[in-house]
Amino acid sequence: MDVPQFAADRLLLFGATGDLSRRKLLPSLCALDADGLLSDELHIIGTARSELDDAGFRNMAREALEEFLPADRRGSMAGFLNRLTYQSLDATTLEGFDALAAKVHEAGTGDGGLAIFLSTAPSLFKPTIAGLEKAGLTGEKVRMCLEKPLGSDLESSAKINDAVAAAFPEDRIFRIDHYLGKETVQNLLALRFANILFEPIWNSNVIEHVQITVAETVGLEGRVGFYDDAGALRDMVQNHMLQLLALVAMEPPTSFDATAVRDEKVKVLRALREATAGETVTGQYRAGASGGQAVPGYDEELGEASDTETFVAIKAHVDNWRWKGVPFYLRTGKRMPERVTEILVQFRCVPHSIFEGTGAGLQPNRLLIGIQPEEDITLSLMAKVPGLDEDGVRLREVPLAITMPDAFAEAQRRIAYERLLLDLIKGDQTLFVRRDEVEAQWQWIDHIRAEWEKQGKTPQTYMAGTWGPSGAIALTERDGVSWHE
Ligand code: BG6
Repeated sequence: MDVPQFAADRLLLFGATGDLSRRKLLPSLCALDADGLLSDELHIIGTARSELDDAGFRNMAREALEEFLPADRRGSMAGFLNRLTYQSLDATTLEGFDALAAKVHEAGTGDGGLAIFLSTAPSLFKPTIAGLEKAGLTGEKVRMCLEKPLGSDLESSAKINDAVAAAFPEDRIFRIDHYLGKETVQNLLALRFANILFEPIWNSNVIEHVQITVAETVGLEGRVGFYDDAGALRDMVQNHMLQLLALVAMEPPTSFDATAVRDEKVKVLRALREATAGETVTGQYRAGASGGQAVPGYDEELGEASDTETFVAIKAHVDNWRWKGVPFYLRTGKRMPERVTEILVQFRCVPHSIFEGTGAGLQPNRLLIGIQPEEDITLSLMAKVPGLDEDGVRLREVPLAITMPDAFAEAQRRIAYERLLLDLIKGDQTLFVRRDEVEAQWQWIDHIRAEWEKQGKTPQTYMAGTWGPSGAIALTERDGVSWHE
């Protein structure tokens, strides 16, 4: 497919005064600027409802950078802040869009393209697109980048996608899943497809099961309205975890190209078997401890009782030749004992042990891919314990470990959005999610939610600072599997 090639010389940020902009977008852009990775022409126009002028927005941005970007990554902040301008806008009405368009044109050099980043409530997507269209900001040299949540089920997501598609073709729509901007997530592709070792054994003949864990120590973080309507399944599984699963399970794409990679991911997402209620466990945290501090329960933070899950564990299956009979155990939760995102690939036992009866302690191999906070890859191998073996050979698991920051000590560790914003400006869609992927993800999630509804399933409680409700342990233990902790 021919993707329109142009570099944007203007970035228009909707929701520019919001949390994502302050914590991630502005810091990422400033860090790219400090590293000389933004062209001199690039202008950033912020827009939001707040009444600010350019100077007010620059002040807000400076404060955000001082709070969220380490000093050694800020470079000359003055140079970066000079790229910023601001136009206040009430996106619910069409009126302000002409003034916004004037500001956007003012910032351009005439020839470059425009990248629009929508980081606003989904309810504003439709009126925003209408306003952009009316003001002539949807032309051929305009890209649209969308931040989650993109709906709350397949139907609402399709509505959003339809509204955007009315003004932008798919090859100019960039849907963010910030996990795809993480270095170790991209490294999964390198590990699988740049090494001959793994591909021949990456299937149900040799792999027994896969575990994907995304554990967080934080609780509600003040996101009361949003989170209680979403819950862990929609907030984390629908997007980040299913993307991780797709990268682990996909067939080798023919190239590292947006169409090839996304074609393979969507096949996996479509091959996900509908999960039964018995294959899912939900939980909600109660008061406990996090990082040595007493923390309140979810219901206390929320101020009322709720059935929203802050933890979910799922036994998933990918129904195709490669993965027949290999469970993918997924779990994610708030207020877990530690912040960790990892993928564990558990291999099968050797078919016949020559050490049988020697008390050798033979264990199947495991590959552990740490995504955060540590970026490391550990292959557990069996080795003989040194000795004369008078009581028989003894074996022990030893790690073959690579710590990415050590292996690439000279490389800059980056915020996931740095990569994604740069790709948006350049127009590379490889690390963005295509509509068919999002819809396959929602379809699978909607079925789970419908099952919960049918069964009247409510979350089990777990104490903050623990690995979730007891049901999560039972989910794997009945298959003779323990969660990696
Ligand atoms: C977001 C979720 O998409 O991802 C948050 O809405 C979650 O609830 C966050 O905390 C986790 O991202 P990261 O990069 O900190 O693992």
